[in-house]
Amino acid sequence: MTEARRVEHQMTDKGYVPVYTTAVVDQPWDSYTATDHAVWGQLFRRQSELLPGRACNEFVDALRALEMSDREIPKFDDINRHLMKATGWKLIGVQGLLPELTFFEHLAAREFPVTWWIRRPDQIDYIAEPDLFHDLFGHVPLLMNPVFANYMQAYGEGGVRASTFGPESLANLTRLYWYTVEFGLIDTPQGMRIYGAGIVSSKGESLHCLDSAAPNRIGFDLRRVMRTRYRIDTFQKSYFVIDGFEQLFKATVDPDFGPIYDEIKGAETVPAGDLREGDRVFQSGSGEGWLLDGDV
Ligand code: PHE
Ligand code: CO
Repeated sequence: MTEARRVEHQMTDKGYVPVYTTAVVDQPWDSYTATDHAVWGQLFRRQSELLPGRACNEFVDALRALEMSDREIPKFDDINRHLMKATGWKLIGVQGLLPELTFFEHLAAREFPVTWWIRRPDQIDYIAEPDLFHDLFGHVPLLMNPVFANYMQAYGEGGVRASTFGPESLANLTRLYWYTVEFGLIDTPQGMRIYGAGIVSSKGESLHCLDSAAPNRIGFDLRRVMRTRYRIDTFQKSYFVIDGFEQLFKATVDPDFGPIYDEIKGAETVPAGDLREGDRVFQSGSGEGWLLDGDV
């Protein structure tokens, strides 16, 4: 087993560049400092107070079932006992970002890569890359849900397959991940709720995505999502809303993406903030505060 290192982006003459590693590491739990545990505790308290009534019940209930608390950084082995029993998923420790194909292969094997290290106190509100809080608090609770757990595995298999089709297909699939797993909203009988990991791990975006007049909220449509660019450095301009995890599963796992990639190949991409004919619009965003460039 490789010794755990903290791998972050690097500053070069081209600006910040992400650094990728493939190693799987044991969580060096004894090496967390009092500050690391305190950062976890502060973020955990803040989000677990904010999220009831904002995040979907599946997320909020799973936090409790996983026995995470603000006392200390959870041990991956303890989380894994719960996960294994519920859905057969397992966390593996990683040092930072993984190359795309490696990431897909882990998901296909029902292994979720979690960055072992946590952000510093000066990064409480924003960090450019995924850390332990984002990965563990944001992503892992929904892996307790059988339908979502199957979606994530199927996504990994779909990624391995898309890797053989080329960069455009991969970009289509990455947008699907972004607008579901990271920034998805779900329409429930109790109202609009959050399920995306990038939202639940961020105080600012947990408020913004539901309360602000600025962003669009649009009903989920596979081809539309696959063509829509996104923001990595600011709140999203558009969120896509599913009716439930079953709907998401049916819309993505059942169809063969091969012909769909071909069909949308060469079609123009949609800017992150645009509304299009045929959109099921829950909210037409005011666009307040939007930067004009920077969609990726
Ligand atoms: N159905 C997709 C394919 O044929 C795989 C997939 C499943 C992709 C779930 C994303 C999410 O490639
Ligand atoms: Co993430």
